Amino acid sequence: MKKPIVVSGLKPTGKLHLGNYLGAIKQYIDFQKDPKIDNFFFIADYHALTQKYNASEKYDEIIEMIADMLSLGIDPEKATLYIQSDILEIANVSWLLGNVISAGQLQNMIEFREKVEQGQPASCGLLNYPILMAADILAFKASFVPVGEDQRQHVELARDAARNFNKRFGETFPVPQGIYVKGLRIKSLDDPSKKMSKSLPKGCLYLSDTPETLRKKVRSAVTDSGTEIVYDPENKPALANLLTIYSEFSNRPIKDIEKDHKNSSYAVFKDALADVLIDELSDFQERKAGIIKDKENLRKIFSEGSDKARAIAAGTLKEMKQKTGLF
Ligand code: TYM
Repeated sequence: MKKPIVVSGLKPTGKLHLGNYLGAIKQYIDFQKDPKIDNFFFIADYHALTQKYNASEKYDEIIEMIADMLSLGIDPEKATLYIQSDILEIANVSWLLGNVISAGQLQNMIEFREKVEQGQPASCGLLNYPILMAADILAFKASFVPVGEDQRQHVELARDAARNFNKRFGETFPVPQGIYVKGLRIKSLDDPSKKMSKSLPKGCLYLSDTPETLRKKVRSAVTDSGTEIVYDPENKPALANLLTIYSEFSNRPIKDIEKDHKNSSYAVFKDALADVLIDELSDFQERKAGIIKDKENLRKIFSEGSDKARAIAAGTLKEMKQKTGLF
């Protein structure tokens, strides 16, 4: 019997941060432990071109992200790893899906509006971003898409694309299901009303940050009024965010961390959090320094993955062409 398929991607637009790791990559690692699942994880390089960037830096950003994925434990023996733009079929699938999604739906996407407000050009690439993402998912007939909460609207659009295509041209795609870590949306350290992202660098903890930088950023994270270390996202959103990061990184329940820090000041708590982060991230950084040296090997892993991914996407494209009445 065919195994259920999991697809997810990371956009190479600079360094990975804690939100990417806790919201998405940790889930990839859980999925790849399950031998009953077929996993596809990729670098969404076409998506990265939908915002302002420096062409001379993009190649290095892609290599860094490949090394990040492998150093974090994504295993080419257990998942198919590839670069989106290597699979030409995906862009073709995207074109065909464009006919079953309305332009109004794209114009109303939150991320499109936010990016334009932040000063990104309102290009056709940015507008069509969600259709390309739907193609990433549907080209593999994925059942599950592990992503952070911020991608929910995009996954919903992919679900609409699957339903609309099936309705118009006959049953072709399973309707993919987004898999979100419940309530986990890592917030910026300097403004807990915003998600942690590269566009707010001061409140963003990067996986590549040095111990000194990590400690400095954690120490200067905003906290809420009061002195008690308790998880209360309504009234103490900044502290709740720090407790979530602590719990996720130490793999310990929030309740236990609260207990340990019953009598701690915010300063002591923050230092303990910095220790946990420094410990975990130094190991990762050491592994990455070794892995990135052998660029040939990185290329080989991803090109083998691309061959496998391409064959599947080509099968889907062929079926779509037949169903839509093409030659
Ligand atoms: P990207 O590269 O912006 O983010 C990668 C993953 O990290 C998650 N994430 C977060 N999770 C929790 N808290 C945060 N603060 C946080 N910030 C980022 C994102 O939800 C994402 O899962 N559009 C996607 C890339 C993509 C994709 C796909 C994903 C392209 N095609 C197909 C899944 C399937 C993106 O921009 O991710």
